[in-house]
Amino acid sequence: MAEINLDKIYASFLLRLEECNSDNDLVELKKEFLGKDSVLSIERKKLPNLNNKNRKEYGSKLTMLKDNIELELNKKKINLLQKKYIKLEENEISDITIDWYHKEGSNRHIITSVTNEVVDIFASIGYTVAHGPEAETSWHNFDALNTPDWHPARYESDTLYLDDKLDNLLRTQTSTVQVRYMSENKPPIYIVAPGRVYRSDQLDSTHSPVFHQIEGLAVDDAITFSDLKGTLEFFVKEFFGSNVKTKFIPHFFPFTEPSAEVLVSWKDGDWLEILGCGMVDPNVFKHVKYKKGTQGFAFGVGVERLAMLRYNIDHIKNFYDNDIRFLRQF
Ligand code: DAH
Repeated sequence: MAEINLDKIYASFLLRLEECNSDNDLVELKKEFLGKDSVLSIERKKLPNLNNKNRKEYGSKLTMLKDNIELELNKKKINLLQKKYIKLEENEISDITIDWYHKEGSNRHIITSVTNEVVDIFASIGYTVAHGPEAETSWHNFDALNTPDWHPARYESDTLYLDDKLDNLLRTQTSTVQVRYMSENKPPIYIVAPGRVYRSDQLDSTHSPVFHQIEGLAVDDAITFSDLKGTLEFFVKEFFGSNVKTKFIPHFFPFTEPSAEVLVSWKDGDWLEILGCGMVDPNVFKHVKYKKGTQGFAFGVGVERLAMLRYNIDHIKNFYDNDIRFLRQF
């Protein structure tokens, strides 16, 4: 029996496949090469008349051809589909004016927007923004800030340490950025440093183990306590409104001398504390290798505290619950 040239059939199939541009073309081509009137089917019908050996050999050649044709048809099908999607994408018109974002009422988190507002107030009088790491060394967090070993803030009950030797910790205050910034920059310095801080505190209405602070530092020729007062009074009036009065009362912080707390006048004649501040202690300047006689002031304000006072929020937990009904209000 004369076998027909299967390679030729496959080659002509491949040529025809090239010309296929649609699913329909593929269906037609499949019918032509694998359908019941195709050469392949006719050849298959001849198999029973062959002797055992030839039947096996020719049979498997026919099967291989059929498998290859099916494989190529499938590949082409996927290829056509991909082309179709690419074309669809190319022709797609995106409406960039669509405002689903606003319809959902998305907004900055209140802690972020209060932080930005405070930073903007200081930026308007020439301050720039600095950052420091949240995982800190005890030296940056305490020693360099003139906070000796015996100070209660260093107890493990107050601070979240990261190792047994108590050399590393989650910073308890953004004042660390004072040390980092001064170690790398020379005066004049006017910076604010917003960021997250950590304390080993139980959650109650005004305390959380994680909260946010904004540190301020100004170091320049002949900076005095009056500059500190003027700057913070400006800040308070910008943030709370021009009717609010401020009061400075003496306080103690290891890294400032003298130190003060700033209170603002509130409803019913109350005064509320909003921040700590003071003239940078000479020992801090010594740690960052500044020359003797350098002068500057620093302050630290709690962001949650500012937001609670301004918006009358009664529990700090509200900021972190991510209850959309609460967050939407701001
Ligand atoms: N670091 C202080 C705290 O966490 C806040 C503070 C007080 C910062 C006085 C200052 C400062 O820079 O001068 O309680």
